[in-house]
Amino acid sequence: MNKLKDKVAIITGANSGIGLATAKLFLKEGAKVVLSGRRQEALDEVAENLEGDFITVKADVAIAEDNKRLIQKATEHYGNIDILFLNAGIAKPIPTTDITEAHFDEIININVKGPILAIKEALPSINDGGTILFTNSVVHQKGFDGLGVYSASKGALRAYSRVLTSEVKSRGIRVNSIAPGPIETPLYGKMDLPMDVVQEMGKGFAEQVPLGRFGTSEEVANAALFLASDEASYINGIEIEVDGGLSQI
Ligand SMILES: NC(=O)c1ccc[n+]([C@@H]2O[C@H](COP(=O)([O-])OP(=O)(O)OC[C@H]3O[C@@H](n4cnc5c(N)ncnc54)[C@H](OP(=O)(O)O)[C@@H]3O)[C@@H](O)[C@H]2O)c1
Repeated sequence: MNKLKDKVAIITGANSGIGLATAKLFLKEGAKVVLSGRRQEALDEVAENLEGDFITVKADVAIAEDNKRLIQKATEHYGNIDILFLNAGIAKPIPTTDITEAHFDEIININVKGPILAIKEALPSINDGGTILFTNSVVHQKGFDGLGVYSASKGALRAYSRVLTSEVKSRGIRVNSIAPGPIETPLYGKMDLPMDVVQEMGKGFAEQVPLGRFGTSEEVANAALFLASDEASYINGIEIEVDGGLSQI
């Protein structure tokens, strides 16, 4: 308890899956949390069951103005930011032969442009000694058919996070990433694929994981808490795989 007492945290994609589990854990640990998502009704729904000091802000990370407004609303309410968790993301598998410009733009705008623009807006309001966290993925370390643009987006984010780590070093801001393997979240239901195809894909993932199963959002949230807390005070620029060993074999 109280590992994040009075820290101000912004979490994008906080109405679901990993973001929601992290919001709950951060609140339990005493943080003041700004939960952001692109659908107000989804934010309202989760807000009903949350306890602690939090606000919700509707913001589509792919829209520059929304990122600006998110940071404005957060700082108006809580003052400067201690923890910025860029977690919102989408994954829609499409083989390379079927990739369209619209598919490319959607994934890259949400997974890459979004976090980078949010950071640009937030940096002046992040306290020295603060923390920036990305939800990345193991997909930039291993090749999974159909995940070309998604994997490229996460690889881009990892490259960007190395630059950011250096750019903010004079302010003592730590920049770290979490690379989940297959995690049981609503993400898979949003892939525009028939459920049997999704289930087959999930089975294939689980079989490749040394621990033989999907992870949970809570298991990823635990890594986010560790990286955001003082317990990780000398950990900077890294990516922690929360993947049951998938990326290591
Ligand atoms: N689940 C996995 O197996 C897995 C593995 C590796 C990495 N990841 C990464 O983990 C992160 C969280 O995903 P998840 O698994 O927790 O899936 P999720 O339950 O679908 O959560 C994703 C969150 O991001 C939000 N989001 C999507 N597009 C957005 C936009 N344009 N603006 C603002 N919010 C947006 C979603 O909102 P809506 O509810 O409106 O869609 C949702 O709140 C993603 O970055 C994903 O790439 C997931």
